[in-house]
Amino acid sequence: MRRSLQDMVTVITGASSGIGRALATDLAGRGGRLILAARRLDRLEELARDLPGKHHCIAADVSRPEDCHRIIATALEKFGRLDTIVCNAGYGFARPFDAMSEEDVRQIFDTNLFGTIECCRKAVTAMKRQEPRDGFRGQLMIVSSACARRGLPYFSTYAATKAAQLSLAEGLRIELKPFAIAVTSVHPVRCQTEFFSTANDLSGMDPAALAEGSKQSPDAVAASMVRAIEKPRGEVWPKALSRLSLSIAVAIPAAVDKVMCGIRDRMLREHENKGKQRVNAKQSCDESESDIEEEVAHHLP
Ligand SMILES: NC(=O)c1ccc[n+]([C@@H]2O[C@H](COP(=O)([O-])OP(=O)(O)OC[C@H]3O[C@@H](n4cnc5c(N)ncnc54)[C@H](OP(=O)(O)O)[C@@H]3O)[C@@H](O)[C@H]2O)c1
Repeated sequence: MRRSLQDMVTVITGASSGIGRALATDLAGRGGRLILAARRLDRLEELARDLPGKHHCIAADVSRPEDCHRIIATALEKFGRLDTIVCNAGYGFARPFDAMSEEDVRQIFDTNLFGTIECCRKAVTAMKRQEPRDGFRGQLMIVSSACARRGLPYFSTYAATKAAQLSLAEGLRIELKPFAIAVTSVHPVRCQTEFFSTANDLSGMDPAALAEGSKQSPDAVAASMVRAIEKPRGEVWPKALSRLSLSIAVAIPAAVDKVMCGIRDRMLREHENKGKQRVNAKQSCDESESDIEEEVAHHLP
């Protein structure tokens, strides 16, 4: 069943830039009522001023459970219900594993995974209590990544948060079906947002090698998310063929390891070229890539 986007109440975390911002713009243009959350309130307010309709902005850090709870409470207080929550806030950065501090690891899990869990936990409680609208009590939309299906060198903790988000979505999709609550995971790859500049700022290594190749626009990613909000489905893979490529990757892990060694070596080379701290790779792999490996590599973030 199609859900009407007119007057739909949607919470978007990480709405101050990139995919979240593009989604807010698209949904507002279709008559949606939005709760926009992120840490940079000035950016949210500027966005809300430019959007048609009346929306609410919340300064919130999703790594703090109390902020997640406040986001959901605000949606209920301002609009009386919550139709869709888009858990989009997140970040990543490249760093050798043993150079990650305990704080680095905890912070990225607190934001990407526990932020998602806390927002969803409170949202589900509210959704279970409300009457269905167009056949659904609500929808959880979790912005994971293509790397949920295949880990990445130097981004291994980031990829682990994204794999955990996918696993969460898979389990909840079945658990919440009897309550008419849809669950959708979203798997972007190489989208033209601030993700890579943020990663660069935070990194011990330049993540440029992962960002090579053409990038998808946040508007295109948002458009595919809007379709899955209107007509809920399990997974959204905005880049054509990325889902197929990653499925093949799961079936041939040794071949994909070779591709990954190539990416690892490129990252090391670029890192060295920029005169930053040298990181020694323990092994070097044969970089020859078959057609299928190139196809898989093309779709990895
Ligand atoms: N771009 C890609 O190629 C790509 C690929 C796969 C997956 N993704 C995922 O897509 C999502 C959106 O990223 P993007 O590409 O749009 O990057 P972006 O432009 O950097 O946007 C990230 C958003 O998350 C917010 N955010 C970060 N930490 C937060 C925190 N602790 N609390 C609240 N908000 C926080 C940021 O807002 P503030 O800084 O104002 O808080 C910003 O609005 C992320 O989950 C990312 O992992 C992106």
